[in-house]
Amino acid sequence: MKILKTANAMRKWLDATTGRTVLVPTMGALHRGHGALIEKARKLAGKSGRVVVSIFVNPTQFGPKEDLSRYPRPFSADAEMCQKLGADAIFHPTPETVYPPGFSTYVEEHSVAAGLCGASRPGHFRGVCTVVLKLFNVCRPDVAVFGLKDFQQCRVIARMARDLDVPVRLVFAPTVRESDGLAMSSRNTYLDAEQRAQAPVLRRGLLAAQKAFRAGETSAAKLTAIVARQIATAPIARVDYIAAVDGESLEPVTKLKRGDTIALAVFFGKTRLIDNIQT
Ligand code: PAJ
Repeated sequence: MKILKTANAMRKWLDATTGRTVLVPTMGALHRGHGALIEKARKLAGKSGRVVVSIFVNPTQFGPKEDLSRYPRPFSADAEMCQKLGADAIFHPTPETVYPPGFSTYVEEHSVAAGLCGASRPGHFRGVCTVVLKLFNVCRPDVAVFGLKDFQQCRVIARMARDLDVPVRLVFAPTVRESDGLAMSSRNTYLDAEQRAQAPVLRRGLLAAQKAFRAGETSAAKLTAIVARQIATAPIARVDYIAAVDGESLEPVTKLKRGDTIALAVFFGKTRLIDNIQT
């Protein structure tokens, strides 16, 4: 497995090898959720293809008061995991090479990125779109794999790729969870024991709403209230948003239909967790 630290080194390696390229963009601190994406990428690439995992904690997608400096960066453990799961290369650039002095070009999606996490984290999806387009340009993937845990991110990247004619096929993979239902996240390591014990209310709330939908309840107000009631049983949880949206446009809906999404972001202390469920 190659570890490539610059765009030039990545391009040279791509030129010197052959086969379909499948990219898994990450910020590292890899867990089984990332692992499932790498395994999926390995299957999609086949024996003759190339699986590239990018590991880059992207400064432009963090707000000024967010956790950029304390975001975990366990590179050797990450590299070992990539190797075990059959990745062919890791692209691991430095912030200085990704954003050289005078960097002044950004990519903004203005519709799907506007609400939900885009509303609570101004500039977040601008940073995501910018770095993901750069990763696409450097790694030239035929296929790129993203996780549905970050549901809005999937929709924003799909819109950007369509709008800007990026020649990549996007594959979205289901959320991998802990046994108590908590969605795996690099940020779960920030939770103290009490917060960790209460965090599964997110999944319980979403499952309760899904169950009510399946039993015939379609009112967005009632379904999101079911989620909120469940979350209120966790005394330290502080809701950022709970929203019912169209699964494609991410526009708010008042009546849910199949394929719509209930998405949420909830703080446990300073740690903001997200999750979502499809009706
Ligand atoms: P990161 O949070 O490291 O996530 C990398 C990829 O792993 C994303 O596609 C994310 O949706 C997926 N992922 C995270 N937790 C998952 C889980 N529990 N189950 C399945 N997939 C999961 O998302 C980012 O990094 C960044 O925004 C990035 C796209 C790399 C741009 O910087």
